[in-house]
Amino acid sequence: MDVFGIIGWPVGHSLSPAMHNAAFQALGVKAVYGLLPTTPEDLAQAISGIKALHIKGVSVTIPHKEAVIPLLDELDPVAREIGAVNTILNRGGSLWGTNTDWLGVKKALEEVVSLTGQRAVVVGAGGAARAVVYALKKARAAVEIYNRTWEKAQALAQDFGVEARPWAALGQADGEILVQTTSVGLKEDRSPVPREILGRFKVVMDIVYDPLETRLLREARAEGCLVVNGLKMLVYQGAEQFKLFTGLEPPVELMEQAALEALKGEKNG
Ligand code: ATR
Repeated sequence: MDVFGIIGWPVGHSLSPAMHNAAFQALGVKAVYGLLPTTPEDLAQAISGIKALHIKGVSVTIPHKEAVIPLLDELDPVAREIGAVNTILNRGGSLWGTNTDWLGVKKALEEVVSLTGQRAVVVGAGGAARAVVYALKKARAAVEIYNRTWEKAQALAQDFGVEARPWAALGQADGEILVQTTSVGLKEDRSPVPREILGRFKVVMDIVYDPLETRLLREARAEGCLVVNGLKMLVYQGAEQFKLFTGLEPPVELMEQAALEALKGEKNG
């Protein structure tokens, strides 16, 4: 029986156990995936614990995605470039870190639109924005970053060789794709993007998935845009992780269903 888990703080509301365990079960994999709540102070000990306990693989979430990097034995160049690790594999006692978040964004968007040559507006410049900008750039979209704090927009744009625009200019933003990466709208009926500009975009994606349809997505839908919710990104990053954990083709639809049910269960319980 192989053991997997998720390291984060807090991690109790994670949908990853539901997703991975459903996939293990469906494919007859003898493995279990659990919560591994880890405080920032205990991170180094927890990482050594992966080796000591022969845990095969671990998902990493907030607030450890950056802090975990110096604690690993090997780092995938992609994770180095993004500056964050969301997946660790225990390869015979050597811990290898990689990142599947960017693939989650790329696949979620590519389900509805081709990204090459498109103009993409990214709202926000925090940790989550890094994987989004990397994904868009990798898919050869032209990226503009808008962030409340100008210095952070500038720093992120510089890191990835894309454009930064002042927050006050968001009302003039234009393009084919808009991706919202801030925490605005999480468990609240608020959107950081003026409704008037939404009609200019073909596709609007929100990385927030609680609620599943944020105010931004509701307004974008009403303006005629194709919308992509944050659960899609979560499911696709998890599916890529499952591939790395097991070497098997992930049952993506089943994982999405399991995540959706876990999300609903959270609300009812
Ligand atoms: P994460 O890792 O989830 O991206 P983060 O690194 O703390 O979290 O980044 C949060 C992002 O949300 C930032 O871009 C932040 O903008 P600032 O750089 O100006 O702080 C953005 N954000 C948070 N609250 C916001 C608000 N009320 N309006 C606009 N942007 C907000």
